[in-house]
Amino acid sequence: MTPDTLTVLGLETSCDETAAAVVRRGADGEVEVLSSVVASQVAEHAPFGGVVPEIAARAHVESIDAIAERALAEAGLGYGELSGVAATAGPGLVGGVMVGLSFGKAVALARGLALVAVNHLEGHALSARLAADVPYPFLLLLVSGGHCQLLAVEGVAACRRLGSTIDDAAGEAFDKIAKTLGLPYPGGPALERLAQGGDPERFPLPRALVGRKDCDFSFSGLKTAAARLAEGISSEAARRDLAASAQAAIARQLAERSDRAMALYAREQQGRNLRFVVAGGVAANATVRARLMETAADRGFSFTAPPLAYCTDNAAMIALAGAERLALGLADPLDAPARPRWPLDEAAAAAHPTHKPGRKGAKA
Ligand code: KG4
Ligand code: ZN
Repeated sequence: MTPDTLTVLGLETSCDETAAAVVRRGADGEVEVLSSVVASQVAEHAPFGGVVPEIAARAHVESIDAIAERALAEAGLGYGELSGVAATAGPGLVGGVMVGLSFGKAVALARGLALVAVNHLEGHALSARLAADVPYPFLLLLVSGGHCQLLAVEGVAACRRLGSTIDDAAGEAFDKIAKTLGLPYPGGPALERLAQGGDPERFPLPRALVGRKDCDFSFSGLKTAAARLAEGISSEAARRDLAASAQAAIARQLAERSDRAMALYAREQQGRNLRFVVAGGVAANATVRARLMETAADRGFSFTAPPLAYCTDNAAMIALAGAERLALGLADPLDAPARPRWPLDEAAAAAHPTHKPGRKGAKA
């Protein structure tokens, strides 16, 4: 092992998954996931139809040490063999964020390790690099429960936002439409299952921001239209068709706005380095992936989506962001704050306050 090899314990507690992982980054930048443990709290929140912040924070407290121990055991390592600890420091539900971040600080202090306070969105941004060779720079569509953004990713700690949702996030749209169809939380995967075999053309749904020259998104019109249609149907076939139509409409908008961003990005890059990556929970959706893959091919971009386990929240992506930051000498002090809101591109967020990320959904 070269001295520049970094072995990092990642911790993720920003919403309803308690996760820990160990990732090793070689001196040449090669990445190896030694373990990735995700304990979902779905069963605890399901009776309430969504994430209850206080229940989430308590559940993180109860399980974080066992989950971290398990990640180390599965990696075959002890705390003494780590180079650093990376914990999500935001954005997300602050009670939960504090649990993982405090645990990470305690480990760093007790073991004399470097601490990295990771932006959860940076974790998603880098997640495709856990399982594939995706060099920088690339164009990223980050679609999760609380965020929907197009970013030019130049490197770790260097993301430039090209567009963002002006109302709901894509995952939020999936979740809310799923609810109006009577589906249980978490709605996105349930809606995808219901949509199987449905007719995506049966229910026409509005297209937002058509002709707009920027790369922004809007899902509130679609969501309201789908909710109104849901009230008027009762047959199982109609529910299936509405789920398929809503899924297709969300995928269509993601593809249309990404197409616009690809055109701008290709111009900026003068036709070089045309790589497109989709990440975040909604990237787990097969229809969304297929639509985006087509769009990327039409625009001459390569296409990468992380394996499903790295689309939704996990700690391997947090460990990787930590390792890449440590490789650049970017550690954080032990008083690094937990941040409920934390835009990836702070300059863009300040210039467009209507696009505040994390404004609505509990999830990031
Ligand atoms: O990235 P993630 O696990 O958590 C954060 O928001 O950070 O994303 C969760 C979101 C939820 O809105 C969930 O419904 C959506 O991703 N999602 C999906 C699918 N799997 C997760 N949406 C559509 N289809 C899926 N298969
Ligand atoms: Zn997430």
